[in-house]
Amino acid sequence: MKGILLAGGTGSRLYPNTVTLNKHLLPVYDKPMIYYPLSVLMMIGITDILLICNKKDLIHYQALLSDGQQLGIHIEYRTQDNANGIAEAFIIGEDFIDNEPVCLLLGDNIFHSNNLSKEIEECTNLENGAFIFAYQVADPTRYGVVEFDHNHIARSIEEKPQFPKSDFAVPGIYFYDNRVSEIAKHIKPSNRNELEITDINKIYLEEGSLGVKEFGRGSVWFDTGTTESLFMASDYIETLETRQGLKIAFLEEIAYRNHYINKQQLSETIKNYPNSEYKSYLEKIIEK
Ligand code: G1P
Repeated sequence: MKGILLAGGTGSRLYPNTVTLNKHLLPVYDKPMIYYPLSVLMMIGITDILLICNKKDLIHYQALLSDGQQLGIHIEYRTQDNANGIAEAFIIGEDFIDNEPVCLLLGDNIFHSNNLSKEIEECTNLENGAFIFAYQVADPTRYGVVEFDHNHIARSIEEKPQFPKSDFAVPGIYFYDNRVSEIAKHIKPSNRNELEITDINKIYLEEGSLGVKEFGRGSVWFDTGTTESLFMASDYIETLETRQGLKIAFLEEIAYRNHYINKQQLSETIKNYPNSEYKSYLEKIIEK
């Protein structure tokens, strides 16, 4: 399965933080935001990854992540030149997807739970249809919202409804079969003039091939597109990391623990990192 990370958009809701720096490069506590969704892809075994960003930010992403070799993965880049919507990722990435199933992760979505990989991992076996998730939130109006029938089968999906039919938001992690690029090419832009991911999900729902999995109570999902949620996410990561002394979304650690790189490659990767808490943590992993 291929993976796409979408890091486009203007980040206007975070102005002025986003005047010079792309939203997905802003820090969430001790590392850039984009590390979190990338870490999820790596944890569920997706190592062939396309990162889509704005043209002017490409240089920054390449400086940060290069081609992924240092992490034992493969990262390619394409640009999204206008804010044409999330679903455009499948058109931009059509040749990269190359008729395989694909997982799309939004670059500002942060997921964390005790058994996150287990909750998500089985979706990587998907061959036909699609999988999305549902997460209960206090204010669903900001999101795609999924309504269930009494058997907990998805009945409808709406994008940012004024009067939501449920409290279940659809987080920015989606799994599709190899038809998704074709489907994306045939949907029409919405009122806000974007190709909506919700319209893709509706097509799979209507044909009866959309699975919706609920993230359990202990799971955490942040969409860090606002100042408040960005702060909440940073605070959450700080609390967990400080209390346990275990780090979240340290890409090098995940690469090592998942055997994408060995101990010697990990040493090589971090050799030129400046002296920092980040490096010290990774050095301790090598020593253990
Ligand atoms: C997008 C999607 C929405 C989804 C949300 C998750 O919203 O359109 O369906 O629930 O991401 O973060 P946007 O970021 O465009 O407001």
